[in-house]
Amino acid sequence: MTFCRNKSTFPLNRHIKVLRSEAAATEPTGITALDSLLGGGIPRPSATGIIGSVGSGKSTLAQQLVVNMLQRDFRVLYYAIDEPAADVRTGLAEFGADAAKQEADGHLAFVDIFSLGVERLADSQQPTEPETIVDTTFKFSDLVSQGRNFTLKHLGKKQFVVLDSLTPFFLMVEAKRVFQFGQVLKYATRFARAIGIAVLHTKVLNETIENAMVSFADVVLELEKKRPLDLSSPGGTLKIVKLGKSKVPPSAYPYEITSRGIEISQTPLA
Ligand SMILES: Nc1ncnc2c1ncn2[C@@H]1O[C@H](COP(=O)(O)OP(=O)(O)OP(=O)(O)O)[C@@H](O)[C@H]1O
Ligand SMILES: [Mg+2]
Repeated sequence: MTFCRNKSTFPLNRHIKVLRSEAAATEPTGITALDSLLGGGIPRPSATGIIGSVGSGKSTLAQQLVVNMLQRDFRVLYYAIDEPAADVRTGLAEFGADAAKQEADGHLAFVDIFSLGVERLADSQQPTEPETIVDTTFKFSDLVSQGRNFTLKHLGKKQFVVLDSLTPFFLMVEAKRVFQFGQVLKYATRFARAIGIAVLHTKVLNETIENAMVSFADVVLELEKKRPLDLSSPGGTLKIVKLGKSKVPPSAYPYEITSRGIEISQTPLA
């Protein structure tokens, strides 16, 4: 294999060569029941999907994982899409992370797409159709370029990237584009030897889009809310829909959402 002599590309080529020789790792999530269901934790590299109905606890789980990975010296990039980064910081604080300090130390970064949408709305001179705001705010190319900068900055460190959620992006595009975008996300996790977490709502999008997402992901966790639209008793059941090439039993594990996060039972429903 010949390396390009260009100084700027040489280290990148060398990095790719080193990565190819590294074995896959399993990174514990810090949630005992989930780790035992996943055979020790989330594989790295992997593209992992957290899918589920509205209010089922997807963001809670994603933020709990972020806090755990920060404790384990990961570099974390969080795309705040459904809620502003400020709300995510509050969520992380509930689970014991000092987001401001982690950001100052360069261990945590946000791409605040939600706040960008707010700005776009404020800047629009006349009443605008929601599609126009969403269409100009959500560009796949922006997601990819922001992620690329982060990845290159932290090459050689363990990386954890959360997209919460991809639903608004996928509302506007056909399944074919979703599939292509998913494939690029998957390549990115391989290149950076990262864990990428993509959150997606179920029952909102066309079924072909849900299927495309499950098909490109290496691991898929599904949260099903106990009682739809009941906000008084947060909780439901968790299923491992996909775990690499392993066969997984279709068992459903009850969980509750508390101030400590998602608490999953070790015993599946009968
Ligand atoms: N600390 C907490 N204690 C108890 N309940 C909580 C706590 N944090 C969140 N919840 C509740 O858990 C439920 C799930 O919240 P979460 O935002 O994680 O779900 P989600 O699947 O991301 O929702 P959405 O589909 O709207 O993005 C909500 O009803 C929320 O009010
Ligand atoms: Mg959410």
